[in-house]
Amino acid sequence: RKTCFRISTGSKQWDGILNGGFQSRSINEVYGEFRCGKTQLAHTLCVMAQMPKDQGGGEGKVAYVDTEGTFRPERIIQIAERFGIDPETAVENITIARADNSEHQHELLTQLNENFATGEYRLLVIDSICALFRVDFMGRGELNARQQMLGLHLNRIGHMAEEFNITVFMTNQVQSDPGASALFAGADGRKPIGGHVLAHASTTRVLLRKGRGEERVAKIQDSPDCPEREATYIITTGGITD
Ligand code: GTP
Ligand code: MG
Repeated sequence: RKTCFRISTGSKQWDGILNGGFQSRSINEVYGEFRCGKTQLAHTLCVMAQMPKDQGGGEGKVAYVDTEGTFRPERIIQIAERFGIDPETAVENITIARADNSEHQHELLTQLNENFATGEYRLLVIDSICALFRVDFMGRGELNARQQMLGLHLNRIGHMAEEFNITVFMTNQVQSDPGASALFAGADGRKPIGGHVLAHASTTRVLLRKGRGEERVAKIQDSPDCPEREATYIITTGGITD
């Protein structure tokens, strides 16, 4: 659609496989093992979202739902410096919402809906989408309840993305049980958590993994308009780059 935009990852190669970046009015998910750069990408997008549209930005504010306590304003300052935007303004334009448990994570959406109604916001980050649901619904018998709550949560997020023309970017973990991944995984042997509910909600999914040395690899898994291509990227003080 005409008013849709895409937010750059900070890496030209990665933007290339995404046709320019993460699209608004849709839910984008990256998943992968620890230290592959999910949170660093989330920080980079917080800055990119504020950039002019002709530079891969969204010209708007950002809401950041932090479920793991890993948001660092110092990193925003460093990334803003790389892109030549005022670091203090860059930090001020990010509304941080720390979620304590899955119920709280869902309730935060009510406040964020009010923020989005100002029309100033272009990006919603959720780092990470499932972690708190996983903790709150641990038992085997609770899986159905968990998936139901997660479904409600994602449904609301999807409506907000659509209504306010926002890019939703969420991070996700991979299943740690090697038995389960051997049984169900795709070619890469890694399966995102969240089951069908999350698979259905995510418009675009990207699998991240460690490559050679400092190199990381992003692979599109499931996208309506991007083929399953790979791109390499690195993590620097200035955020994600080629
Ligand atoms: P989990 O949340 O644990 O699953 O991992 P993640 O995928 O979110 O990883 P994260 O984005 O936190 O990436 C961690 C990597 O980023 C580590 O290898 C760090 O060395 C690297 N990193 C973080 N900050 C900097 C920085 O300022 N400079 C550089 N060069 N690397 C950084
Ligand atoms: Mg992280």
